[in-house]
Amino acid sequence: METRISEIADGIYRFSTFVPDIAPPAGFTFNQFLVLGDEPLMFHTGLRKTFPLNRDAASRIIPLERLRWIAFGHFEADECGAMNEWLAVAPQAQAAHGQTGCLVSLNDFADRPPRELRDGETIDLGDGKRVRFIDTPHTPHGWDAGVLYEESTRTLLCGDLFTQLGNGAALTEGDVVGPAIAAEDLFKYSSLSPNMGTTIRDLAKLSPRMLALMHGPSFAGDGAAALRALADEYERRVSGCRLADKGKAA
Ligand SMILES: [Fe+2]
Ligand SMILES: [Fe+2]
Repeated sequence: METRISEIADGIYRFSTFVPDIAPPAGFTFNQFLVLGDEPLMFHTGLRKTFPLNRDAASRIIPLERLRWIAFGHFEADECGAMNEWLAVAPQAQAAHGQTGCLVSLNDFADRPPRELRDGETIDLGDGKRVRFIDTPHTPHGWDAGVLYEESTRTLLCGDLFTQLGNGAALTEGDVVGPAIAAEDLFKYSSLSPNMGTTIRDLAKLSPRMLALMHGPSFAGDGAAALRALADEYERRVSGCRLADKGKAA
């Protein structure tokens, strides 16, 4: 395995590790994003087992001891499995996550106390970069789920939203909704909760021009339209579940 490095937006680097054994023959990528600034931030830690690859990739961009923030979408091995490994190599680094995630997992799991982020709270990374934490409970999965929005580049670090298979280019302007629907059909990874459509539509209001997918390429283009199309799809699925339940009850 190797980790590819690409700068997908000004000062935002994507580290992409392709694992061909997951969902063959297409395979599957795990992506992390390093946002530069006076206080650099890593979004997703990567799996514990791929830490050496990601550590080496990050150290080609910044001295590791400069890393200040470690954030991620929700508590799961690929999102935060290597959190304590990063905390160990970056003595100034601190995990930052939503209140739910800190309460139920990080206050115990993280080797140093995390920073609790309220819904909508921002971290000023310096050098023009600012990230906003947005709570997205159960979307696409995880009670503690959230995303980060980097305001200067209008990049939505959208975690598992739009998950797709394959190992394409780092950046695409093509369709990211169809491949996400195909992956949802395969993995069934989303919690089809009644609020899911509304939660995704609210993200569309940010009008992102970059969607940084954890599993798939980064999308440059009309992020709001892609998010609304994804919301439509999940609303169809949720209402389909409701109709099926009504049919069973009848
Ligand atoms: Fe996940
Ligand atoms: Fe993930």
